[in-house]
Amino acid sequence: MPFPKNFLWGGATAANQYEGGYLEGGRGLATSDAIKGGDKDHPRKYTVKTKEGEILELPREASLPEGAVGYIIPGIYYPSHQAVDFYHHYKEDIALFAEMGMNSFRFSMSWSRVIPDGMEKVNEEGLAFYDAVVDECLKYGIEPIVTIAHFDVPMYLADNFDGWHSRKLIDYFLHFAEVLFEHFKGRVHYWMTFNEINILRSWMQLGIHDVSPQVRYQAAHHTFVASAKAVLRGHEIDPENKIGMMVAYAPVYPLTCRPDDVMKSIEQMRLKEFFIDVQVKGYYPNYQLNRYERNGVKIEMEDNDLDLIAKGTVDYIGFSYYMSSTASADPNAEKTGGNQMASGKNPYLEASRWGWQIDPMGLRISLCQMYERYHIPLMIVENGLGALDTVEEDGSVHDSYRINYMRDHIKAMKDAIELDGVELWGYQPWGHIDLVSAGTGEMRKRYGFIFVDRYDDGTGDFSRRKKDSFYYMQKVYKSNGEVLD
Ligand code: BG6
Repeated sequence: MPFPKNFLWGGATAANQYEGGYLEGGRGLATSDAIKGGDKDHPRKYTVKTKEGEILELPREASLPEGAVGYIIPGIYYPSHQAVDFYHHYKEDIALFAEMGMNSFRFSMSWSRVIPDGMEKVNEEGLAFYDAVVDECLKYGIEPIVTIAHFDVPMYLADNFDGWHSRKLIDYFLHFAEVLFEHFKGRVHYWMTFNEINILRSWMQLGIHDVSPQVRYQAAHHTFVASAKAVLRGHEIDPENKIGMMVAYAPVYPLTCRPDDVMKSIEQMRLKEFFIDVQVKGYYPNYQLNRYERNGVKIEMEDNDLDLIAKGTVDYIGFSYYMSSTASADPNAEKTGGNQMASGKNPYLEASRWGWQIDPMGLRISLCQMYERYHIPLMIVENGLGALDTVEEDGSVHDSYRINYMRDHIKAMKDAIELDGVELWGYQPWGHIDLVSAGTGEMRKRYGFIFVDRYDDGTGDFSRRKKDSFYYMQKVYKSNGEVLD
């Protein structure tokens, strides 16, 4: 039997894309509240107010003028404000997850719901919401897997401290993590500190105003120290806690066997491996230190930072896998879409409508690469196909394209366990219930096995319906991965 008996079959979401209820229950604002929807060809925009009182709309990858603060323009549609309203549908959703055969569920807890300004005072009503969610999961035997920070920062910390650029965030984050570890002790055993720590670069994700490499990498250092401290405290509070890191992983193949292309692929792999090296091996690798020096990036550290990083290494690697990419020494080599950034095109692969290259074998390759390099357990915490779905007159959704995608990727995962001996703890496909896209803010880029009646113009009644893929995944989950065809 390739899948161990306690294999974690689940699904994955994030508060800012799924939860909604953005002003309910005493929640404070988060950076993710001030970002509008876009689409494949039009980037999402932030709405901010300058010191002079001017309202600006800035593309996601832009820096903000100094002193600008997040601003919500009254009366316009922001996708995350209601998202797909898990806030009011959690009982119905978790019952559906149980019906689908899920024995685990990955979600994030919104920092500004639990601590509205991000600093100290806990909002009991916010915590009570997550109590209800966790208890509802446990009622069905669903193991909660919690991401502590997933692409949002309390707005107060972004506005007043420049987000993760400030060292102060380390202690505020640690306090938030401690509140969660204490409160959910014995009920939540699986945690991840930062979602896709290697692609954090924007105001929304880090709360930083200047997105230059100097500021971004200083912020990354602060997230490393914060994560290490959280791992150490989390283990002290409950030695049963399993605390992981989370990386956006996509193997980068050399476009050709030309040695220069191979070297490029090594360099591009380091953009992921650096973050794993720090959090799993516990030190800054030479290639990154040299890169900083070449690019004039200077990281300010306190005396015991490196010691903390060495001690606070993670228990497992959680990773998202959607696609592979190629690297070429030729700057004009063809590009296609990708997760938050373009990727090198591979002539052997098909791509989704958003240009993400579909590569099931790439998942097996990723599992082998990481397991053989780091020798610690892995968990796939995101995977899936963003696609346009059509609801038929009778309410059904025939998403055979998604079923094919899932089947091929689960088979690849099975091979990695059975043939390659990879230690894999679980599989949490992304957006197993439709939610807002992080990259484009669209609703129509759907990943779910459960369709949610919500559209890009802000209409829809939030009703849920099962797609064909729901029944397919149910078969897979209930047979512990035995039935795939
Ligand atoms: C990952 C994120 O980048 O990919 C998720 O952790 C995100 O938040 C997912 O939603 C899919 O990306 P997108 O842009 O299709 O939503």
